[in-house]
Amino acid sequence: MLTGRHVIEPGSLTIQEIDEICGLAEQIIVDPAAFSDVCRGKILATLFFEPSTRTRLSFEAAMQRLGGSVIGFSDASATSTTKGETLADTIRVVSSYADVIAMRSPKEGAAFLASEYSSIPVINAGDGGHHHPTQTLTDLVTIRAMKGSWSGHTIGLCGDLKFGRTVHSLAKALSRYPNNKFVLISPNELSIPEYIINQVFIPAGIEFKQVERLEDAIQELDILYMTRVQKERFFNEQDYIRLKDSYILDKEKMKSAKDNMIILHPLPRVNEIAPEVDEDPRAAYFKQVKYGMFARMALIAKLTGSL
Ligand code: NCD
Repeated sequence: MLTGRHVIEPGSLTIQEIDEICGLAEQIIVDPAAFSDVCRGKILATLFFEPSTRTRLSFEAAMQRLGGSVIGFSDASATSTTKGETLADTIRVVSSYADVIAMRSPKEGAAFLASEYSSIPVINAGDGGHHHPTQTLTDLVTIRAMKGSWSGHTIGLCGDLKFGRTVHSLAKALSRYPNNKFVLISPNELSIPEYIINQVFIPAGIEFKQVERLEDAIQELDILYMTRVQKERFFNEQDYIRLKDSYILDKEKMKSAKDNMIILHPLPRVNEIAPEVDEDPRAAYFKQVKYGMFARMALIAKLTGSL
């Protein structure tokens, strides 16, 4: 039963529930008009303590396309947080106004903390470098639409694997399906956190390897998940400048990729995918944006008990 539940990280949902949400998203994609009224009278609160365009707009569009409405803020400096209000109190108050919360924070664990005080479902829309489960639902809907299933893939995760929360959530989610292998492509300093290796890959018996050069791995991939270097999470500007151009996917590199490989990216893109790649039929990152809205529609409908 998904009604009333919090979604903090991929493990908040069983694989059956993930299938239920993505299956509903697939039905919405086929006939969105049939779902245009299912959240009539319900309110989504978007509490964004960290900048976002796509994720916030995607949540807002999702709720409006379900016939519901949206309240919230995208700039915490205009809220009572600046007067010293605690997150716990903000959440208690918002729980009395809305039916579901989508929340983003620069602090790891903030969404979990909010869920402890909330009487309505809390959806984590990104907590620092930790998790981003609705991006993962987006990625899963895209992968099933384009590759047919969530198993038997060789997945290249490329870029900032240290701070990239979308990567942490996707690695955790795809490790639950059979015969997936990971190639972790990053500079040594931006390699995936140890806990993903020790608590996710090893217990699940996942085959993985770590490489530094995209050219050494691209030919074996079914899915290439590109990410930007997460500037805002660096302590030191020099390190960011040194690492920001570590990977640039261009037409030349795409020559070695399989014909049916797909390129995903959670966006925003900085310069890690050259614009010339956008016309390549394997580039799926703009389709992914659209799937994200449908995935969020399905999730909101389920958590609010509307379907
Ligand atoms: C991602 C995020 O916020 O983690 N963006 C998004 O939600 N689509 C990726 C990023 O910011 O690089």
